[in-house]
Amino acid sequence: MFKPSAEFKAQANLGSEATYKRLYAESVNSPAKFWGRQAKELLTWRKPFKQVLQWKAPHAKWFTGGALNVSENCLDRHLGTARENKAAIIFEGEPGDIRTITYKQLHREVCKFANALESLGMKKGDRAAIYMPMVPEAAIAMLACARLGVIHTVIFGGFSSEAIKDRVNDCDAKLVITADGGWRRGKVVELKSAVDRALTGTPKVEHVVVLKRTGNEVAMTQPRDRWWHELMAEAKAEHKPKAFDSEHPLFILYTSGSTGKPKGVLHTSGGYLLGTTITTKYVFDLKESDIYWCTADIGWITGHSYVVYGPLANGATVLMYEGAPNQPGPDRFWEIIDRHGVTIFYTAPTAIRAFMRWGDDYVKKHSLASLRLLGSVGEPINPEAWMWYHKMIGKKRCPIVDTWWQTETGAIMVTPLPGVTAAKPGSCTRPFFGVVPKILDDNGKEVPKGSGGRLFLTQPWPSMLRTLWGDDARFKTQYWSEIKGIYFAGDGARFDKDGYLWVVGRIDDVLNVSGHRIGTAEVESALVSHPAVAEAAVVGRPDDLKGQALVCFVTLKSGQTASDQLKDTLRAHVAKEIGAIARPDSVRFAAGLPKTRSGKIMRRILKEIAAGGEVKGDVTTLEDFSVVASLQAED
Ligand code: WTA
Repeated sequence: MFKPSAEFKAQANLGSEATYKRLYAESVNSPAKFWGRQAKELLTWRKPFKQVLQWKAPHAKWFTGGALNVSENCLDRHLGTARENKAAIIFEGEPGDIRTITYKQLHREVCKFANALESLGMKKGDRAAIYMPMVPEAAIAMLACARLGVIHTVIFGGFSSEAIKDRVNDCDAKLVITADGGWRRGKVVELKSAVDRALTGTPKVEHVVVLKRTGNEVAMTQPRDRWWHELMAEAKAEHKPKAFDSEHPLFILYTSGSTGKPKGVLHTSGGYLLGTTITTKYVFDLKESDIYWCTADIGWITGHSYVVYGPLANGATVLMYEGAPNQPGPDRFWEIIDRHGVTIFYTAPTAIRAFMRWGDDYVKKHSLASLRLLGSVGEPINPEAWMWYHKMIGKKRCPIVDTWWQTETGAIMVTPLPGVTAAKPGSCTRPFFGVVPKILDDNGKEVPKGSGGRLFLTQPWPSMLRTLWGDDARFKTQYWSEIKGIYFAGDGARFDKDGYLWVVGRIDDVLNVSGHRIGTAEVESALVSHPAVAEAAVVGRPDDLKGQALVCFVTLKSGQTASDQLKDTLRAHVAKEIGAIARPDSVRFAAGLPKTRSGKIMRRILKEIAAGGEVKGDVTTLEDFSVVASLQAED
């Protein structure tokens, strides 16, 4: 147990166990009172809400009757205050270029870009896809969409053109915002050409806005493609934001599920903004003077909630870094922390494990004296990595917040509160306000403390997803039908005897590779789209660095010959279909896959084979055991 220090406690935004207990009790016993008060205190409303929550499971409406503008909450309301000339974004590009953008300047850029979008015919309710590097313009694009009530869908820059096409078509985006490229490990990641390939199959897209970042040559299709800088040169710097209904959609973010098709998680305005604002304030113990750095890419939910909306709504100074953590050397992050005086640092366990592997010497070259709080997100953090983070980066001085949450939850759900909660390495500890986690067995009965089960959230919360874009039926079956009316997170977990939560990981067919969610079904459907493949099954294998590695079992069509070259071809094929993050770690050919007599692939057996262990447990339903024997002999 690591208790908060007296020093940290004394200055914390929420410094006592008694306050946590009192507020937590109020938040779950009188949610309307608690959230109504927080919404009034933390957000600026144009029209006050009439009702805090309308809940007809599984559909929630928060702050009904209320109207606000999310971009106004992140920008305009800081103008005319001491924050006006404070840095909103400190940007460092991978080549070393540095820019500081104050709130006043950011406001001006967002107003101009909102006007530019309007000049291209974008209006409330339209969808815009954003496929950009980690540069301030990505945040400007998001905030300009929010300002107009345009629904953005950010597509991670590592996704392939096929993935762009599917997402753009699924939400009928009219506009794509991209860049000529971004810098990654000293090379240009070509974004515009990927968009061009995707747009051969997207009939609804009218315009593409292209930011010049790297200066590499790109093809511009007239009159579809427009340069960012040319639009901005013509745009007015004034833009009066309209107020939108609290439930107006803010964004769609696609995430992997248990089928081959990604889910378009829909978040709306008032509730989402409140969830991200309040968690940023208390979980990161945010102070006016902090330099806050969350290393997530804006293509993921963490980038939405804790690079853009949560911190900017709080008037924080956000550090944004474009490139790789080991460019030019493995100490780039520590160099950045010292150069800019970063005080709060939020990253993923997979990155921490990479730093550990690169060695302590790279860390020891830097002081890191400015740091006062550390965070972790995206996957369970193993206690060894936690201890290294605590000693080597935090110098035993900084509390670590291990934050459990999901794309669907919008904001942090279970986390230590710095200055209040004693940490246990590997546990995300206790629920945030309004969150009621339960661990249930297959019959919906609560399991005793210490036993594992499935993780559910039993009360609605403001930043919860509202539906899946265009597929409310899937929304209901995916999250609300395991046990009717309560939210199933897809994770396995347990409470320990102190009531601390330990999340073990996904128990559905979703893998967590380097903190990124990858659906096994998506990889399988990419594999079978290759002409040589008859059948494929994909499972995870424990991996020291990535958490999980992707192992593919493939049976070939007759006439095809297994070879190492074909393995590489298939790995490249998956990367092309989905993106480099889904490139399989290993491909194994098999004459047949282990199946039950009814023809279902027995993944449990494949997982055991992938992990290199014995095939244990019940195999009586297996149709043909010789398949297993030959799979084990393979590799
Ligand atoms: C996992 C990322 C353990 C979990 C914000 C969840 C975690 C999935 C933690 C969501 C944590 C995230 N401890 N596991 N602190 N944080 N996870 O949607 O399996 O990309 O269901 O959201 O990541 O991933 P997503």
